[in-house]
Amino acid sequence: MDQTKATHRALLNLEDYHQRAKQKLSQMAYDYYYTGSDDQLTLTDNQEAFRRIKLRPKVLIDVSKHATTDSISCRTQILNSTATLPFPCIIAPTALHRLAHQEHGELATVRAAVACSTIMCVSTISSTRMELIADEHRRHIRERYPQSSSQLWYQLYVFQDREITQKLIKRAETSGYKALVLTVDTCIIGNRESSVHNKFSLPNGVRVENLVDERVELAEKYQELPRDASLSWKDLDWIRSITSLPIILKGILHPDDACQAVKFGIKAIIVSNHGGRQLDTSVNTVDALSDIINAIGDQSPIEVYVDGGIRRGTDILKAIALGAKAVLIGRPILWGLAADGEQGVRNVLNILKKEFRSAMMLCGCQTVDDIRKNNLLMLNDRPIRSKL
Ligand SMILES: Cc1cc2nc3c(=O)[nH]c(=O)nc-3n(C[C@H](O)[C@H](O)[C@H](O)COP(=O)(O)O)c2cc1C
Repeated sequence: MDQTKATHRALLNLEDYHQRAKQKLSQMAYDYYYTGSDDQLTLTDNQEAFRRIKLRPKVLIDVSKHATTDSISCRTQILNSTATLPFPCIIAPTALHRLAHQEHGELATVRAAVACSTIMCVSTISSTRMELIADEHRRHIRERYPQSSSQLWYQLYVFQDREITQKLIKRAETSGYKALVLTVDTCIIGNRESSVHNKFSLPNGVRVENLVDERVELAEKYQELPRDASLSWKDLDWIRSITSLPIILKGILHPDDACQAVKFGIKAIIVSNHGGRQLDTSVNTVDALSDIINAIGDQSPIEVYVDGGIRRGTDILKAIALGAKAVLIGRPILWGLAADGEQGVRNVLNILKKEFRSAMMLCGCQTVDDIRKNNLLMLNDRPIRSKL
């Protein structure tokens, strides 16, 4: 397709936003956002795993309650009902939003999160200070969306310097973040070869703002941030001793680790392979989710969320049918931001919500709980029997 036509094409789905973002971003920023580690097999497999699952819709069920896009039947309570989502979808933590939108970066994303009443999980590696994001969140709710049920969560990387880590946690707590998402799959950064080819460096004016108070040289050379490779289960007690925020573990793939998280009294886990950016050839998140749900059982007190490769409303429905309580979306948010700032992120979320609602209706689901009950999934011509 010629370039002019591509630019004026209506943006109907998340792939359209991806293509528009690709046109707008520098090669370095696009590669940084898009690529995975090594041969990018996990990156590809995440999306394909959702596509491999087929749906087996039920019919002749009254789904007229879904008549409006703000259908109450898509609503979901999460984190022990401390948060209500209009549909089970959360903004995943992704670094450096100012690479996508130099002027507003995370501030545009947070405004979209408020408008769409969703949770934004803010990255440690954000290019806007966490306090400024929290201020904007409050201001936007107060002035524009008083009904919004949006919340902020803070994603934490644990650094070798535990004092820095402790200060980050305190700052998140003081500025009103509602949960701590501890990323546990990043003892070192995955091998992202595109960053080497592109000699990735932060453009002028873009820094890891949360670290500027600590060590400015770290804020400017983020690839060298010394993560703490000694982090282990026993450190969770230390983190719990310095914060009252609920802790969510992000980056769980092994059923044993999910069971361990239950034993540790963790509130929720995110089944994630970091969007294929860490260990290449690690299991896709669909397969990991199924194994984990089977391992922890249906009476588990822990909530399970999942991310990686979710690009359609049907993917969200499949994740819920497999036992997830909600999904997180990473790259598509960045594509929306690059394509059209706050409005682009809102559009991405609204497209997903509309698609999810349609999928529910076409599958004969009156409520989100029906998605789990209806045995809708098929894989390799066989039903996937839910243990829920
Ligand atoms: C550009 C980029 C930056 C990311 N930065 C972080 C981060 O700072 N912290 C984190 O826990 N996960 C990070 N992730 C992983 C996402 O939170 C999420 O697990 C992943 O993007 C989900 O896959 P998806 O992009 O296919 O939706 C990042 C992912 C991308 C693509």
